Amino acid sequence: MTGILQLLLLVSATVASEPSCPACSKYDYEEKVLERMIRMEFAFEKVLKENKDVSKTVEQDLTRIKVENERLHATVDALKNQQEQAERRLVSLMEEVERNQSSTLVKIVSDSNTTLEKTIAAFNDIKDQIAIPLVYFHARSPQTSSLSTGEVIMYTTVETNQGSGYNSTTGKFTAQVRGLYIFFMHTCTHVSNHAFLQIVKEGSILIGTSLYDNSYYTCSSSQAFVQLDAGETVWVQCFNGGSSRRLYDDSKYWTSFGGALIHN
Ligand SMILES: *[C@@H]1O[C@H](CO)[C@@H](O)[C@H](O)[C@H]1NC(C)=O
Ligand SMILES: *[C@@H]1O[C@H](CO)[C@@H](O)[C@H](O)[C@H]1NC(C)=O
Ligand SMILES: *[C@@H]1O[C@H](CO)[C@@H](O)[C@H](O)[C@H]1NC(C)=O
Repeated sequence: MTGILQLLLLVSATVASEPSCPACSKYDYEEKVLERMIRMEFAFEKVLKENKDVSKTVEQDLTRIKVENERLHATVDALKNQQEQAERRLVSLMEEVERNQSSTLVKIVSDSNTTLEKTIAAFNDIKDQIAIPLVYFHARSPQTSSLSTGEVIMYTTVETNQGSGYNSTTGKFTAQVRGLYIFFMHTCTHVSNHAFLQIVKEGSILIGTSLYDNSYYTCSSSQAFVQLDAGETVWVQCFNGGSSRRLYDDSKYWTSFGGALIHN
C-alpha cells in the first residue's frame, strides 16, 4: 500500500515537472520524455524493490511474533497447569489436616475416657478396700442351764445378726470377711451357782470369766478384740462343768453373746 502511494506521488511529480522550453525541437522533446520514462521506470523498480524488502522484514517480524506468541502461550499454559496442581495439592493437604485434627480429637477423647474409666475402677477398688461391710450380731437365752466342760453355749434368741455371721444352731460366729472384730459375752448366774465361760477363736482362749454369788444373781461382761480370717469361727464355751453350774437369763439379765467387725 505504501509502495503504491510512493509510485503515484513520483508519477505526479514527474508529470508536474514537464519541460516548458518553447525553443526546443520535437526531437528534443521526445528524447526528454523518453529519458523521463526511463527514470520513472528505474524509480518504479527501486520502489518495488524497497517494497519487497519491507514486506520481507514484516514477514520475518510476523514469524518472530508468532513464534514468541506460541512460546508465551505455552508458558501461560504451563503456569496454569502448575497453579491447578498447586491448588489441588493445597486442597488435599487441607483435607488431610482436617482429617488428622478430627482423628487426633477422637483419640484424645478415647484416651481420656480410658483414663477416666481406669481412675473410676481404681477408685472403686480403693472404696471396696476402705469400706467396712456391716457385720454385727447379738444373741441371748442360752439353751442349757446346767453346763458340762467343753460345752458350746448356744444363745437361741437372735436379737440381731447383720451379715448372718452368727448361727444359733451351732452357737458359733463365722467371719465372712477378714478383719478386726470385737466380741463380748454377758453372763449371769443363779444364786449360789457357778459359771466358768470363755470366748474362744477356733478353740483358743480369747478371754474368760468366773462367776459365783451365794446371796443373789450376779453378772459379768467380758470383751475381746481379735483378728479373723474369712471362715474362722468364734464361740463361747464352758471350761469347768458340773451340777452347780447354771446360767441365768430373763427379761432383765440378758446372758448374751455378741460381736462386730470394726476394721478390715
Ligand atoms: C496426618 O497424620 C499422619 C499420620 O499420623 C502423618 O504422617 C501426616 O504427616 C499428617 N499430615 C498432616 C498434614 O499433618
Ligand atoms: C467411654 O467408654 C464407654 C465404654 O466403652 C462408653 O460407653 C462411653 O460412651 C465412652 N464415652 C465417651 C465420651 O466416648
Ligand atoms: C447353721 O449351722 C448348721 C449346722 O452346721 C447348718 O446346717 C445350717 O445351715 C447353718 N445355718 C446357716 C444359716 O448357715
